[in-house]
Amino acid sequence: MWSVLVLALALLSVAATGAEGMPVAASSPRAISLTSRRVPRNGRYVPGLRKRALKPFNVPLTDFFLGTDLQWFGNISVGTPPQPIPVVFDTGSETLEFVSTQCGAPCGNQTAFDVSASSTYVAGNATVTLQFATGGGVDPVLSPEEYELTLLNGTDTLTIGGHTLPNQQIFTIINETEKFLTDPYSGIQGMSASLEGFFGALVEQGLPALFSFFITPKAVGNAELTIGGIDESKFQGPLTYAKLPRDAEGSWELASPKITVNGKTNHILTQEREVIFDSGTSNVLFDTNTTEAIYAMISPNIKPFAAEPGAYGIPCSEIEGLDATISVTFTSTSGQPFDLTIPSSELNVGPFTSNTSVCQTLVNAFDGLSLVGGSLFKHYYTVWDVGNQQMGFAPNGF
Ligand SMILES: *[C@@H]1O[C@H](CO)[C@@H](O)[C@H](O)[C@H]1NC(C)=O
Ligand SMILES: *[C@@H]1O[C@H](CO)[C@@H](O)[C@H](O)[C@H]1NC(C)=O
Ligand SMILES: *[C@@H]1O[C@H](CO)[C@@H](O)[C@H](O)[C@H]1NC(C)=O
Ligand SMILES: *[C@@H]1O[C@H](CO)[C@@H](O)[C@H](O)[C@H]1NC(C)=O
Ligand SMILES: *[C@@H]1O[C@H](CO)[C@@H](O)[C@H](O)[C@H]1NC(C)=O
Ligand SMILES: *[C@@H]1O[C@H](CO)[C@@H](O)[C@H](O)[C@H]1NC(C)=O
Ligand SMILES: *[C@@H]1O[C@H](CO)[C@@H](O)[C@H](O)[C@H]1NC(C)=O
Repeated sequence: MWSVLVLALALLSVAATGAEGMPVAASSPRAISLTSRRVPRNGRYVPGLRKRALKPFNVPLTDFFLGTDLQWFGNISVGTPPQPIPVVFDTGSETLEFVSTQCGAPCGNQTAFDVSASSTYVAGNATVTLQFATGGGVDPVLSPEEYELTLLNGTDTLTIGGHTLPNQQIFTIINETEKFLTDPYSGIQGMSASLEGFFGALVEQGLPALFSFFITPKAVGNAELTIGGIDESKFQGPLTYAKLPRDAEGSWELASPKITVNGKTNHILTQEREVIFDSGTSNVLFDTNTTEAIYAMISPNIKPFAAEPGAYGIPCSEIEGLDATISVTFTSTSGQPFDLTIPSSELNVGPFTSNTSVCQTLVNAFDGLSLVGGSLFKHYYTVWDVGNQQMGFAPNGF
């Protein structure tokens, strides 16, 4: 599946990475047009010039935990009257898709949006098929065909934070492969770095154009997404901001000059790279050379796990106590370097199903891509400032 890299990258600017990791189009990626209808912009967004500003609000998030923290999801309400649908708020994609009653048996017991119970639902006439190259969990994705969603376009009213937003673009899941049935959520709400979907509509009405994640381990709980603001009670110290590159085009990514492992670096780890920030993913992805350079500084016994190309592991008996502090350096808006650090405690993402004596390690090899997710965000409060095209970070306050 890793050979589909080119297709995956072709899709990146359209659908980016999904909550299940990296969507790939098996046949014709260009045919997939999941471009959300952009909210018409009446001039540029100018903070402070609105007559009536909308207040920020919180969406509580629940941790999908399978031995390790995987994904965080919360409700968005769809239809009239509103039906709460649990979705992953995914900074790696841009559209809203979720299971509906149009799916039936293939979608098992997942919470389904009942299309016939919504007086405002309008079905579209376009379907699209999405495949994913990495799953939500630690189990191998042996072929993208195992992770396939069929979507139907449409429109309906969305309700979130007490705000009712009519005529929003939605994609209902009308068929899916059985791998999705274990997901405790029903879909994905894209939260890309552009003013789209429900978020774009709220900004049009005067909500500040930013949102913030407080992602926590299962044991801590109380994770939340603050839409339109920053929850100052959830972190310590000042936020450090960094600008997205000018050509980010809706992708949450920052340039990084350096990776450091246990205080050391080398010529491979000092290559400049764009790192994607994906709230829908828990593992870390780097190209193969970078991944192996990182592991070489942690333990020679971390080896590729043959049954899952791209994944690495080590006998579980050897993983406890390994030093594996991974710091990724970025540059702040004031030009100073700063590090975001994933501690050693994140190295072990749990035993492989096919060989439970081997534990999967955090970094997956995926050539052409650098990506961090929940395993980093558990340690930082993150601000996703769409209006100013920048990201802010501060150590989590727990
Ligand atoms: C979503 O809403 C339902 C119904 O109100 C509630 O039972 C559930 O806990 C909520 N889920 C999340 C993830 O907040
Ligand atoms: C759905 O729920 C029923 C009843 O609780 C259960 O028997 C069945 O195994 C569940 N199906 C799936 C796919 O989880
Ligand atoms: C669904 O997509 C088709 C093709 O792009 C478009 O013509 C139609 O208006 C869409 N329908 C809805 C309800 O959004
Ligand atoms: C799909 O729906 C759109 C909008 O209603 C319509 O313009 C278009 O002709 C339809 N396409 C097909 C193939 O039915
Ligand atoms: C759903 O997809 C599966 C393959 O994943 C296929 O076998 C089945 O026919 C599809 N069902 C419908 C109703 O399209
Ligand atoms: C990875 O390293 C090998 C051997 O040093 C080199 O030939 C290759 O070009 C590198 N690949 C990338 C993508 O940098
Ligand atoms: C599981 O992995 C261990 C360590 O690599 C290996 O010795 C053992 O043969 C593997 N077991 C199976 C069933 O593949």
